[in-house]
Amino acid sequence: MKTEQINELQEKYLIGTYSPDIALVKGQGCYVWDTAGKKYLDFTSGISVCNLGHCHPVVTEAIQRQAAKLVHVSNLYMNEIQPQLAEKISTKSFGGKLFFANSGAEANEGMIKFARKWGSDKGKHEIVYMNRSFHGRTLATLAATDKPKFREGFNPHMGGFVHVPFNDIRKLEQTIQDRTVAILLEPIQGEGGVYPAEQGYLDDVRNLCDEKNILLLFDEVQCGMGRTGHYFAYQYYNVEPDAMSMAKALGNGFPIGAFEVKEKWAKVLAKGSHASTFGGTPLACSAALAVFDVMEKEDILFNCQKMGQYLEGKLVSLVKKCSSIKELRTIGLMIGIEFDGAVDAIVKEAAQSGLLILSAGENVVRLLPPLVVTQTEIDQGMNIFEKILLT
Ligand SMILES: Cc1ncc(COP(=O)(O)O)c(C=O)c1O
Repeated sequence: MKTEQINELQEKYLIGTYSPDIALVKGQGCYVWDTAGKKYLDFTSGISVCNLGHCHPVVTEAIQRQAAKLVHVSNLYMNEIQPQLAEKISTKSFGGKLFFANSGAEANEGMIKFARKWGSDKGKHEIVYMNRSFHGRTLATLAATDKPKFREGFNPHMGGFVHVPFNDIRKLEQTIQDRTVAILLEPIQGEGGVYPAEQGYLDDVRNLCDEKNILLLFDEVQCGMGRTGHYFAYQYYNVEPDAMSMAKALGNGFPIGAFEVKEKWAKVLAKGSHASTFGGTPLACSAALAVFDVMEKEDILFNCQKMGQYLEGKLVSLVKKCSSIKELRTIGLMIGIEFDGAVDAIVKEAAQSGLLILSAGENVVRLLPPLVVTQTEIDQGMNIFEKILLT
């Protein structure tokens, strides 16, 4: 199909919540191709989803194999893959217990329900969230999402949420009340503009939660699954949450989300208190198990750290030559480049030149290359980016 035909169909039959102008038909590793055969270097990874690159053969094979065996069974029955994946995630993180969902918002929604249930016999229900946060588009996650543009028109927002400036421990302390049940944050804010938590701040937040008997909830939907060079971002900070959500790269493109709670809180959500028809199907869990297999066998975390440093080095030299860049924020392969003005034109021009990049907010270019990216691919991407910015 030609791009024009796809566009026509889209205009006619899809609700216009998106407005894409490139139609992609194929992906391999760090590259994708459009309908006209034009090749793009993908430094978005489908927004931190295809962290192992597009169509990784091990993940593809696992999906194909499982699709021919058993795609779905209700959670009224056991399936042999789901607990294996839970074991894998638990051993790679803080030894907690898991609930499987299908997306980031659904994982966060479940985590919010977990916190409310935990607080229900303690007279606590209020969740504190952060400025510039993004937790999803369902009504509960939207109530914890800061961006006015996303909230507009959906009043009344769900009650029981209050927000504070990120990285400001004093304001957080002042906001905590007896009714506060949890603090919800992204260790590295993604959509809000790639703002990492400060180390001292996260340490203080953890202490505050312990002191006041409040849950600490980390949304690792974007910054988890290896993006920081650690399995999870909390490991980069060495600050353990009481519960954590994940999705996006968990299935490398196959939809799956999850939240994990500390073992001691595993009984808070008892039988029948939460459920999902599609959460944790054999097919989705096979894809995610294959993701962990590849992460181990191909030493993806090491590559992320090494390539993260290499890319940071390149960007530091670019910052010296480009006066419109105000700030560079990088952890692993999660990169925000803040400009002194809107970045839409830069993102568009990069795509025209064969490089897919993202914005995060008005003024920030966000780079989220696949964690399998090579030095040669970084050189190629940076050559395009530099040309756009300096000519
Ligand atoms: C930090 C964070 N949380 C939650 C979500 C929502 O995930 P989903 O779009 O899978 O519902 C996103 C999506 O970008 C995200 O970045």
